[in-house]
Amino acid sequence: MTDTKPQDRVLIFDTTLRDGEQSPGATMTHDEKIEIAGMLDEMGVDIIEAGFPIASEGDFAAVSEIAKNAVNSRICGLARANFADIDRCWEAVKHAEKNRIHTFIGTSPLHRAIPNLTMDEMADKIHETVTRARNLCEDVQWSPMDATRTEWDYLCRVIEIAIKAGATTINIPDTVGYTAPEESADLIRRLIETVPGADEVIFATHCHNDLGMATANALAAVAGGARQIECTINGLGERAGNTALEEVVMAMKTRHDIMPWTTGVDTTKIMAISRRVATVSGFPVQFNKAIVGKNAFAHESGIHQDGMLKNRENFEIMRPEDIGLAGTSLPLGKHSGRAALRDKLEHLGFELGDNQLKDVFVRFKDLADRKKEVMDDDLIALMRVGGDDESDALKLVSMKVICGTGGQAESTVEMEINGKDISATAYGDGPVDATFKAVREIHPNEARLQLYQVHAVTEGMDAQATVSVRLEENGNVVTGQSADTDTVVASAKAYINALNRLLVRRAKMGEGADTREISYRDMS
Ligand code: KIV
Ligand code: ZN
Repeated sequence: MTDTKPQDRVLIFDTTLRDGEQSPGATMTHDEKIEIAGMLDEMGVDIIEAGFPIASEGDFAAVSEIAKNAVNSRICGLARANFADIDRCWEAVKHAEKNRIHTFIGTSPLHRAIPNLTMDEMADKIHETVTRARNLCEDVQWSPMDATRTEWDYLCRVIEIAIKAGATTINIPDTVGYTAPEESADLIRRLIETVPGADEVIFATHCHNDLGMATANALAAVAGGARQIECTINGLGERAGNTALEEVVMAMKTRHDIMPWTTGVDTTKIMAISRRVATVSGFPVQFNKAIVGKNAFAHESGIHQDGMLKNRENFEIMRPEDIGLAGTSLPLGKHSGRAALRDKLEHLGFELGDNQLKDVFVRFKDLADRKKEVMDDDLIALMRVGGDDESDALKLVSMKVICGTGGQAESTVEMEINGKDISATAYGDGPVDATFKAVREIHPNEARLQLYQVHAVTEGMDAQATVSVRLEENGNVVTGQSADTDTVVASAKAYINALNRLLVRRAKMGEGADTREISYRDMS
């Protein structure tokens, strides 16, 4: 918009790859992080928080590569309040044309107790570390973690110190999702009015969703004067997650009359990145999630459909096209060719190279043989779960299940492990239990099943099921996914997919080593 005054522009700071990715079970691979960062950059996100460079070699490599590839976005890395973190962060982000160091320390009474610092000692530390960051990078963001539970006087004092030491953005985190909209607006407004130098920096809001108010709190903070919203795609993040990017962006666009702020985000790219983040993080989007949920634009009830036919504005406040949702289109079938598949996938936001298309086409044909009509949601599921990876150590070869009323279910599973076929038969309370036991007999493991989830992709007796399996082993959490018209087969594949991910993680960390990477919560 050409008539946007600078004070009406809200910067979008995406932390899917840092706060989102650090959510247990949401770990992404290096290539997935690079891909998501590319999509964020292309959709007009102002700042991408690409990771926590000192956390691991993998994080450092991902942030460095994202910094090298960035075209439009500013690339930011997270650092705790110590020189080693800050220097390492700079080494990773320095490759970007526009970069940022984000350093933080917990300032509330509870968080101050962790490093056991007095108020004065912490104030000195803030001065030293922000100065260090500013000497390396001209764009420095500082966050008083748990700001919403920090004493007012102390919060003002430390923010003033950070500004004097050179911070250019002051972020106010509601780390535990404790605040409420009025309080959120009021806090930012009072800080801007009170802290000397506040008008020289940008205030940011970073909300967590523990009480379901992250979006409302972030928008209220903007009403109070914040001009940067920190958020994640699909609201991904620890516990109940972070402010969802798609929600704040679409709220400002749809209710511009009462929230007269703009962003640089191309909203038509929302659906594609939402789907991709759901796939790579293993965190499916709830059906009734605002903006990107499967039902967000579905008008199922008779009354609604009648109203929609008369005038879509009766029940639709946004147009599906605005978030990149293609209008309803004809399903594909077993006679559909490669060109039709490519065309349909492009429509759904998936751009594939020739080799990828070849692989997806084989799986599409297999599905079309078993299912009369392949709907958009079937294709999305196909893309979400991916195919067999040649490099997987564990592969499902075949399985046979006998179950019925009364008695135990019996499952015989045959797997290929590093080129060798092994099979086992096990019994359990139902076909899934028996199958998981058979897999465990073939590949003994101590991983704990944290979550087992089944969703029907479409309606009908021949509907595909997508299954998510989350496993935990020595603090490592991974999620495996699969889809099949047979729920038990999908379950076996999802379980094996999760086990393969655990193997990769174990290898990455080194056998016998402490498998936990440093978390930004670990205050040393
Ligand atoms: O929630 C939080 O406090 C954070 C900080 C590191 C900004 O994520
Ligand atoms: Zn956070």
